[in-house]
This record gives sequence, C-alpha cells and structure tokens, in this order.
Amino acid sequence: MIKILLPVMETTRLTLRPLSLIDIDDVFEYAQSPLVGPNAGWRPHTSKLESEAFIKYSIKKREFGQPGIYAIVLRKNNKMIGTIEIHSYNQYKAEIGFVLNPDYWAQGIVVEAAKAVIVYGFEILRLKRLQYGYFLFNVRSKRVCEKLEFTKEGILRNKFQNYNGEIIDEVVASITHEDYHSNKIAWIVEFKKGLKVDSKGF
Ligand SMILES: CC(C)(COP(=O)(O)OP(=O)(O)OC[C@H]1O[C@@H](n2cnc3c(N)ncnc32)[C@H](O)[C@@H]1OP(=O)(O)O)[C@@H](O)C(=O)NCCC(=O)NCCS
Repeated sequence: MIKILLPVMETTRLTLRPLSLIDIDDVFEYAQSPLVGPNAGWRPHTSKLESEAFIKYSIKKREFGQPGIYAIVLRKNNKMIGTIEIHSYNQYKAEIGFVLNPDYWAQGIVVEAAKAVIVYGFEILRLKRLQYGYFLFNVRSKRVCEKLEFTKEGILRNKFQNYNGEIIDEVVASITHEDYHSNKIAWIVEFKKGLKVDSKGF
C-alpha cells in the first residue's frame, strides 16, 4: 500500500514531524499523567514500554493507509510535548485527535498545531469532512473546538466505553470541505501565511 504523505510542518512556535522512537521519554512524561489519557479515552501509561508500544503502533498505522501521528515539538527548547493526528481516515473523511503535556497547557499550543493539521487535511488529503469528537465533560477540548471554528453537530449519548468501563457521552463537531473553502472559517487565510510545509514530505 502506498504510504500517505505526512509532511513536516512549521508554525510560529512549533514543528510537527512524524512521531518516532526518539520520543519515548517525552511521551511517557505526559502519558503517565491522570490529566491526559483519561480525557482522551485511554489509561495512563505505567511504564515506558507502554509509550514505546504506542509509538510503534503509530508507525505501523502508516502501513495500513493511515496518515500517522505527528509529534508536536516546541522549537524554542526542541522538546516533544504532545501528539496530533488525523485518524480514522477513509478517502474523504477523517477525525482529528490530540494530547498535550500539561506543563504546556493554556498557551494555545494545540490550537496552533491543529490549524496546521486542518490545512493538511483539506489541502493535501483533500478531505470532505473532518470530525472532532470530545467527551461532554472535557471543557478544554470544547474550548479548543470553538477556537478552531468547528461546527457542533450534536451529542452522541452513551457513545464511548472508557478503559474503566464508564460509558461516556461524546460531542461531535466537524469542518466540511465547503466550510473550509468558503471563507466561513476566519483564521485560515492569516494562519497559512505563517505555515511552512516541507514539500519533500515523508
Ligand atoms: C485538550 C488539550 C489538548 C487542550 O490544550 P490546552 O493547552 O489546554 O488548550 P488551549 O490553551 O489552547 O485552550 C484551552 C481553553 O480552555 C479553557 N479552559 C481551561 N480550563 C477550563 C475550565 N475549567 N472551564 C472552561 N474553560 C477552561 C482555557 O481558558 C482555554 O481557552 P482560552 O484560550 O479561550 O482562554 C489539553 O487540555 C489536553 O491535552 N488534555 C488531555 C487530553 C485531551 O483531552 N485531548 C483531547 C481529546 S478530544
């Protein structure tokens, strides 16, 4: 199967590059926090072996027609501080997901990274629909969703069973091809001026 282009991208503060095994320590640093995984539907990591297995799985995904996972790297200290990905990709539609090391929350970092990934989704993958789902209780994700100008579509009740058996309602929002290309989303034009995409790709 032909691998999908996953270009390195640079925004004002960040480099997005494919997640790799050099990231094990940085992934484990935040993946063990109870603030991170449970808000995204996974159990906190208890050892670096789990972080390593997650990275290997992310690399393997590319062999099955998925774009793969970006590492979010803060350029000022060259530290890997989170991941962002387009997943559940199926020709015209996909979903976006992300997590960030709590030491770096409340600086708009994921919004900056997600803007780049949304541009990638609509201009390189040529998506017709990009979905964003978050748990009803996840107030930070809700706010990120608003800042990215996704359109809320509704609440899927009892949609997700968490790793501890808890059943959770999920909010679903989306950006469509029509939204993206019709000037409906205010941030796109200005953001693209500062976005660098490595044309050689990965
Ligand atoms: C979701 C996540 C990536 C957001 O990162 P972040 O750095 O907090 O995001 P931002 O700073 O850009 O935005 C968060 C917003 O939530 C707001 N916020 C924070 N705590 C809040 C609260 N208790 N109630 C309401 N809003 C709150 C912040 O003020 C901010 O909005 P603002 O920029 O308008 O002030 C991060 O919290 C995370 O990794 N969480 C764990 C994993 C996760 O939930 N992933 C997403 C799964 S869908």
